[in-house]
Amino acid sequence: MDLLSIDSLTDQQIAAILDRAGEYFSSDRVGRSNDQLHGRIVFNVFYENSTRTAMSFATAAHRLGASAIALSVERSSVAKGESLEDTARTLNAMRPDALVIRHRENGAPATVAAIVDAPVLNAGDGTNEHPTQALLDAATIRHRLSRTDGLTVAICGDIRHSRVARSNAKLLPRLGAEVRLAGPPELMPGNIVPLTVDEAIAGADVVMMLRVQRERLEAELGDAPGEYLARYGLTSERLATAAPGAVVMHPGPMNRGVEIEDRVADDPDRSLITLQVEMGVPVRMACLEMVISAAA
Ligand code: CP
Repeated sequence: MDLLSIDSLTDQQIAAILDRAGEYFSSDRVGRSNDQLHGRIVFNVFYENSTRTAMSFATAAHRLGASAIALSVERSSVAKGESLEDTARTLNAMRPDALVIRHRENGAPATVAAIVDAPVLNAGDGTNEHPTQALLDAATIRHRLSRTDGLTVAICGDIRHSRVARSNAKLLPRLGAEVRLAGPPELMPGNIVPLTVDEAIAGADVVMMLRVQRERLEAELGDAPGEYLARYGLTSERLATAAPGAVVMHPGPMNRGVEIEDRVADDPDRSLITLQVEMGVPVRMACLEMVISAAA
């Protein structure tokens, strides 16, 4: 089985991943090591930059006894013009047990999965999906608030370019949560009835802020310094309108002072941002274990 999108997972598989990740997380806050995947080889192929996803997939593989091998794309034969398909055929010939890929093009992991015999895991493709981020977000919410069912989650910011928003908008409703999407009109997809950020945050149990992806913008936003934070960002004043005890999330990397104020991002009682990173390892352990076991 491949893990390409939230839709590629059944409800039972989602529950199994979240339960297994919870077991790994509670047994040791950074994820207990075991030999479940001893001798297996996981290829990490990142055509786009990453800190959290790349390192946590590698850590997850090592904690399961597998070896993680990263292709340095900028120093590889991709730089000589080798196509995605030929790169996939080349890597497949080395018989990895799983291949993790991040790519700037929507659908690139599916293209690779059609060529590679081993399971392929999508570590983020263009503006399409980032399924393991959504799974770790759900696991983080469940850990902190003991449930997802019945919660309201406000996802605010650059929705148009956000694969995190797209995967969460598919996953969280399947887990019983209501998702509200809000952001600047020019950063909202055309098919969504826009809410203002203030409307989305009011009464929400979880406020998830998104990075403004200036590298994917066709034109500059033209915002003056401080303007984005004042109009659309998460400030203490806006957070005060959320539900009592509401928590703050951000997939990272953050544009501090743009979509989120420092004191909100660093609030030890409300911010789950570091917990999200921590949860990435057990969630990706559960994902690797599931797809590799299914292929055995
Ligand atoms: N959340 C996330 O995908 O972060 P990285 O780009 O650092 O992997």
